[in-house]
Amino acid sequence: MTNDTLITAATNARKKAYAPYSGYKVGAALLDENGRIHTGQNVENAAYPNGICAETAAIAMMVQQGGTRIIKIAVSGGDGSQLCTPCGGCRQRIREFSTDETPVLICDANNLLANLTLGVLLPHSFGPKNLS
Ligand code: THU
Repeated sequence: MTNDTLITAATNARKKAYAPYSGYKVGAALLDENGRIHTGQNVENAAYPNGICAETAAIAMMVQQGGTRIIKIAVSGGDGSQLCTPCGGCRQRIREFSTDETPVLICDANNLLANLTLGVLLPHSFGPKNLS
C-alpha cells in the first residue's frame, strides 16, 4: 500500500464532506492491519458541536469492519496555506489504535504537505496501556 494510494483515498473522501457551516472540507483515509483502507469525511451539524471530524468517521468505519490497528493515516484538508493537522480530540482517537511511530500524512486537496508521526503530534500520550 503506497502513500499515494492512501492520499488519493483521503482526497476522494474529502469530496463527500458535508461542511455547509465552515466550508472547510476534510477527508481521511487509514490503512488497517488487515490491509484495508477505511475513509471518512467531516459531517457538520446545525447544532455546531455535534459535527464530527473526518478522522473520527474513518476510525468508526475501521472498527465496524473489524480493524483494530491504524498502520498509517492520511488527512486531506485546506488549500495548502496551512497544514490540516488533526484536532486534539482526533489525535487522541488515532492514538487509541496506533503507536508513536504511526505515520500521519497531512495533505491539501492534491498533495502531501507533511509526513508526521502520531508521537510528534501527541507526545507523552495517555493510551490503553495506561489502564492495563
Ligand atoms: N476537521 C476535521 O474533520 N478534521 C481535522 O483534522 C480538522 C478539522 C473539520 C471539523 C469541522 O467540520 C471543519 O473541519 C472546520 O473545523
